[in-house]
Amino acid sequence: MELWIKKIESASTLEELESLRVDTLGKKGVLTIEFAKMKDILAVDKKSFAENLNRQKDQITKALDSKKIELEIIALDKKLQFEKIDVTKFNNELSCGAAHPVAETMNRIINYFLNLNFTVEEGPLVEDDFHNFQALNLPEYHPARDMADTFYNKDYTLLRTHTSPVQIRTMLSQKAPIRMIAPGTVFRRDFDITHTPMFHQIEALVVDEADKISFANLKHVLVEFLQHMFGEVEVRFRPSYFPFTEPSAEVDISCVFCKGSGCRVCSQTGWLEVLGCGVVDQNVFDAVGYKDKSGYAFGLGIERFAMLIHSIGDLRSLFESDTRLLGQFKWLLQEDG
Ligand code: PHE
Repeated sequence: MELWIKKIESASTLEELESLRVDTLGKKGVLTIEFAKMKDILAVDKKSFAENLNRQKDQITKALDSKKIELEIIALDKKLQFEKIDVTKFNNELSCGAAHPVAETMNRIINYFLNLNFTVEEGPLVEDDFHNFQALNLPEYHPARDMADTFYNKDYTLLRTHTSPVQIRTMLSQKAPIRMIAPGTVFRRDFDITHTPMFHQIEALVVDEADKISFANLKHVLVEFLQHMFGEVEVRFRPSYFPFTEPSAEVDISCVFCKGSGCRVCSQTGWLEVLGCGVVDQNVFDAVGYKDKSGYAFGLGIERFAMLIHSIGDLRSLFESDTRLLGQFKWLLQEDG
């Protein structure tokens, strides 16, 4: 038996150990054969014969078990070494993300107005009719409601179609004077090359005592702002209509691509429309209970700004998460420090 134990102890693989188990304890193993001899042993000798065999079986089993554990550890070590992954092998340079052009443009605009002492206000994305329409001088059945194709919920709440309801919420919760911007997500039922059902706007509202705020103030702030964003561009105010401002204007800049001489992007006009603005309509002040106040407001689409600043041709590419596009904006992070 000692010979078998020695063999077991010097086994070098699990397969070898298994065949030693078969040779000793298996159906035709040496010990099994010994046990079979029991029936021929005289009754008086049976007990000591059996005890002896059981002891041997015990020793062999113990030797097999402990060798098995030992060989399994070795086998696992080998396997781990083989499967080891060198995480530094392909790229030992840390790759960092980039600011999304929409977020980056939004932050640029927010920072500009923070420097002018504007506050940043927020409002809910799920709005009600009062804040999104009625208080903004858009009563029920007003034809201008068609300007925005609205997503309505079953409970008559809606997804806000612009950031203008934040004007209302801010005036209802704060006293004049107000200088605020409201950046955020807005929703419209529109989807083509120049529209996505979700996009971003920044709203601005300035309110002070009656006659203190005029269109001239608005014009000055916007010309400065647009030249900060787009460089040396010309700025043009075109009369327009918004229910919540009177007078209202749409603002164009000279085309940043052709410098005003006419190209495909500006449809040969030399001008690009970039925002809507106006002097706050008296009906809006009435809706929030503001008396003897004056103010201006404007609102702009951030995607449009981002596309013009970074020469991005298709609006939809801003929402496709293609890292080949997004990776190009890493330098913006470095620029910000
Ligand atoms: N809310 C308008 C829009 O979504 C933009 C706007 C804001 C116009 C404030 C005038 C004043 O188109």
